[in-house]
Amino acid sequence: MAKVLVGKASEIGEGKMTHVTAGGKEILVANIGGNYYATGNICNHAGAELHEGELNGKELTCPWHGAKWDVTTGSMIWFPQKLKDLGKYKVTVENGTVYVEV
Ligand code: FES
Repeated sequence: MAKVLVGKASEIGEGKMTHVTAGGKEILVANIGGNYYATGNICNHAGAELHEGELNGKELTCPWHGAKWDVTTGSMIWFPQKLKDLGKYKVTVENGTVYVEV
């Protein structure tokens, strides 16, 4: 496991998302109600970058065809076909800095 810097917690406000590339993976980090969550940033339908989608509470809507994902778990909430989960990564906050473990 490598700990990868995401950014300053103060720059990822509530309801905001950011993304990093780490260990060859595209990762999305979201702040939901003051807690940080990390999941895959590439939609398992056709490859959209999910940080360009819309975040509503913990529900993230893909910008291309509207698949809905739970950013706290990486699980699919809605789509006409079953899509693989996005995965989930551990996030830590130390001295106001957000890290993700990859
Ligand atoms: S690429 Fe995300 S729903 Fe199609």
